[in-house]
Amino acid sequence: MTPPRTPAPAPKPAKGAAPAKGAAPTKGAAPAERAPRTTRSKTEPSTTHAPRRRESLHVFRADTPPAPENPLRAGTRLERIPGPCIVVVFGATGDLTQRRILPAIYNLRRAGLLPPESAVLGFSRRPLSDDAFRTMARAAVDEFSRMPLEKALWDDFAQGIYYQQGNFDDPPDFKALVERLEQIDAERGTRGNRLFYLATPPSAYTEIVDSLGKTGLDRQREGWVRIVIEKPFGHDLESARALNDSVMRVFDESQVYRIDHYLGKETVRNLMVFRFGNGIFEPLWNRRYVDHVQITVAEDLGIEGRGEFYEQAGASRDILQNHMMQLLSLVAMEPPIAFEADALRDEKVRVLRAIDPVWTDARARANVVRGQYIAGWSADHPVVAYRAEEEVSPTSTVETFVALKLEVQNWRWADVPFYLRTGKRLPKRASEIAIQFKQPPLMLFRDTTADPEPNLLALRIQPDEGILLRFAAKVPELGLEVRSVNMDFTYGSSFMKDAPEAYETLLLDAMLGDASLFTRADEVEAAWGVVSPLIDIWHEWDATDAAESADPTDPSAEEEVCFYDAGTWGPQAADRLIEHDGRRWRRL
Ligand SMILES: NC(=O)c1ccc[n+]([C@@H]2O[C@H](COP(=O)([O-])OP(=O)(O)OC[C@H]3O[C@@H](n4cnc5c(N)ncnc54)[C@H](OP(=O)(O)O)[C@@H]3O)[C@@H](O)[C@H]2O)c1
Repeated sequence: MTPPRTPAPAPKPAKGAAPAKGAAPTKGAAPAERAPRTTRSKTEPSTTHAPRRRESLHVFRADTPPAPENPLRAGTRLERIPGPCIVVVFGATGDLTQRRILPAIYNLRRAGLLPPESAVLGFSRRPLSDDAFRTMARAAVDEFSRMPLEKALWDDFAQGIYYQQGNFDDPPDFKALVERLEQIDAERGTRGNRLFYLATPPSAYTEIVDSLGKTGLDRQREGWVRIVIEKPFGHDLESARALNDSVMRVFDESQVYRIDHYLGKETVRNLMVFRFGNGIFEPLWNRRYVDHVQITVAEDLGIEGRGEFYEQAGASRDILQNHMMQLLSLVAMEPPIAFEADALRDEKVRVLRAIDPVWTDARARANVVRGQYIAGWSADHPVVAYRAEEEVSPTSTVETFVALKLEVQNWRWADVPFYLRTGKRLPKRASEIAIQFKQPPLMLFRDTTADPEPNLLALRIQPDEGILLRFAAKVPELGLEVRSVNMDFTYGSSFMKDAPEAYETLLLDAMLGDASLFTRADEVEAAWGVVSPLIDIWHEWDATDAAESADPTDPSAEEEVCFYDAGTWGPQAADRLIEHDGRRWRRL
């Protein structure tokens, strides 16, 4: 794909010089004109929304020829620019920081969405100088950035990158952090605005939060202070509650941004626009017209050497509790009273609370399939069984696949099943939400239709992001043959623009103080409230099986896990689950 045109950097003015007309504020300068925020939490100090015009000194323009005008992109530029801040990344040398966070911050700066005064302070255990961390960051951006690294911009950007060695539970290290942040504030004009990002093993979250609290770094004085917490948020309902309690002892909910990067994906965000920005779909979005909903998150990869992690997680904790429950709540929610964080999250929580959290033995057996892959094929090469992967127990019952049927018990959705499936080592990587509508009440063309299909609306989240509507049409012949045809919108060809990475969107939102795409404490707990009891039931079954069979490889000890060949669409039991209701999984 041709890289989109990128804006070029304008020179940074000398200190004390008046900013260019329309420029973003520079250190010590008066802030540029700002649009008023429409929503702001009481406890949050102000954040800024820049005016509609792209107008900033730090906008970067490469010398690439202009892209052809695309009418669909006309008027699409509503850019918001936050005030300058220090992004403090705990776990700065880790995989997530290198792959996602540093490239995302760089891309924001490159797109002109980050004031040049902004800084990044990496905090980790290993001893590194600022320069060594800058070299590490440069290599990461070089390798993982969506946009290529531009030397001139990088040199300027890198001056704002710092490193602080420290241990998460060491008070002197946090005292040193306080001093370092004050120094950076003074040096770069970041005005006390801090975004703490916990890109660390989850076991470290509580101690970092405690350490921030003890050193007073949680308090908002001159500027704003926010904390981004990576997924997984808890291991089950109890641990999620305990973590929420620890975080709330130090921070106010309005300062907390629990991240699920799925919510930053363009297609997921577009789901809300699709539903609530159009008048024609919402009247059909209910039990009267919708037969059922299918949500699929399929991965072709296996566990990629992360056996130790996956043995603790499984598909339910890794994907179902967070990504899939989020998709479900976005599909099923009522229109919020405003496009504002708490209004949105109130509605999402209502959906999660409308799902029965009680999993009896009978309900789990009838409505859920727990699967695990055995040896098979991935594309054109053979792959080993899950149990033969490194760091995986040869008798593991951890699910690499789960399919289930849920019901959202409210007036809109009563009796409309939601079928969810996710798995590893499936034939392809594909995520989709499919809304299948009911058949017309009277099938006038039954005799001339080979296989009457109901209307279907498919929202493709990845790959080939887009929306497909399937409906019946007459074949252009003398007779009256009817077939289903597709009306297909794809982002790539319609907007001819690379979508930002989810982490770019989410980091920018956190800096702007917009929590719409982050999960609230009650939301995380409500999602765990549905998934946690199911995992508990499986554990009970496993314990009973183990007690009944001295030999854990005895097939009777495995009857609760349904095996599937790698490279297939999961166990046959998953097909039976939906076929039992006279429906079938959509072929992706
Ligand atoms: N990797 C991904 O793509 C991804 C995707 C989604 C979510 N996540 C989540 O993001 C988080 C981080 O994952 P990761 O893969 O980046 O982990 P990782 O590669 O293991 O990195 C852990 C980081 O934490 C630092 N650290 C650990 N203990 C420390 C201590 N006591 N004091 C100071 N620093 C300490 C390490 O520093 P040293 O190396 O200097 O010891 C390292 O920088 C996890 O919660 C994970 O679930 C990751």
